[in-house]
Amino acid sequence: MPATKTPALAVIIGSIRPDRFGPTLARWFAAEAEAHGSFRVDVIDLAEYQLPMELTGNDPHAALPDDVAALGKRLSRADAFVLLTPVYNRSYPASLKTAIDWFYGEWVLRPVSFISYGGVTGGLTAVEHLRVIFPEFPAITTKNFISLANFWKVFDHDGRPVDTAGLRGPATTVLDELAWWAPMLREARTTRPYPGLDFEPTFTEKDREVPA
Ligand SMILES: Cc1cc2nc3c(=O)[nH]c(=O)nc-3n(C[C@H](O)[C@H](O)[C@H](O)COP(=O)(O)O)c2cc1C
Repeated sequence: MPATKTPALAVIIGSIRPDRFGPTLARWFAAEAEAHGSFRVDVIDLAEYQLPMELTGNDPHAALPDDVAALGKRLSRADAFVLLTPVYNRSYPASLKTAIDWFYGEWVLRPVSFISYGGVTGGLTAVEHLRVIFPEFPAITTKNFISLANFWKVFDHDGRPVDTAGLRGPATTVLDELAWWAPMLREARTTRPYPGLDFEPTFTEKDREVPA
C-alpha cells in the first residue's frame, strides 16, 4: 500500500490536567499502533491546545481561534480515532467534549474507538457516554475498546505495562477493527454522498496533506 494510502490514526489524549496519566497511556498505545503497521499514527494531546469553552456564534464563516484551526487541521487528516478517556465523576472529561463540539466534518464517517481508565469500573461509563455522541456526525464507534480498571496497577512506575504481552491482545483487537473500517469509510466519504448529510467541511483535502 503506498504511504499516502495508509490510513491515519489519531490517538487523542482527552485529559488536560497536570500530572495526568493520559500521556503515559498514549505512549504505550502509539507504540502498539506503530508496531501493528496499518496506520500512520498521530498522538494529539489536547493540553497543547487552548480550546475556548465559548464556541462560535451563528456565522459559519467566522474565523476560528488559532488553536481550534490548528487542531482541526490535524483531526481532518485522521481516518480513524482512538479517544483516551479517564472517568471523571462517572463520565468523560469536559476537555474531551469541548474538543468534540468545536468540530463536525472532522469526525464524519470515521471509526472511533476508546481506551478508558479509572478505578474499579475502568471508565466504562465514560465510554458509554461517549458512544451516544458519535451517531450525530455520523461516525462509527467500534465494538471493541480497552478499559483499564485500577489503571495504576496496570502500568509500572516507569510508565510501562506490567504485563506487556497481556495488553497487546486488546490493543491488537482494537487496531484490527479500526484497520477494517478506516479505508472503507475513507473511500465512502470521499466518493459517495451520505444521505441527508449537508455540510461544508471546514478543512479541505489539501489540509489533509501532511507537511513534509
Ligand atoms: C474530577 C475527577 C473526577 C473523578 N471521578 C472518578 C470516578 O468517578 N471514578 C473513578 O474511578 N475515578 C475517578 N477519578 C479518578 C481518575 O480516574 C484518575 O484521577 C485518573 O488519573 C484521571 O485521569 P488523568 O490522570 O488522565 O486526568 C476522578 C478524577 C478527577 C480529577
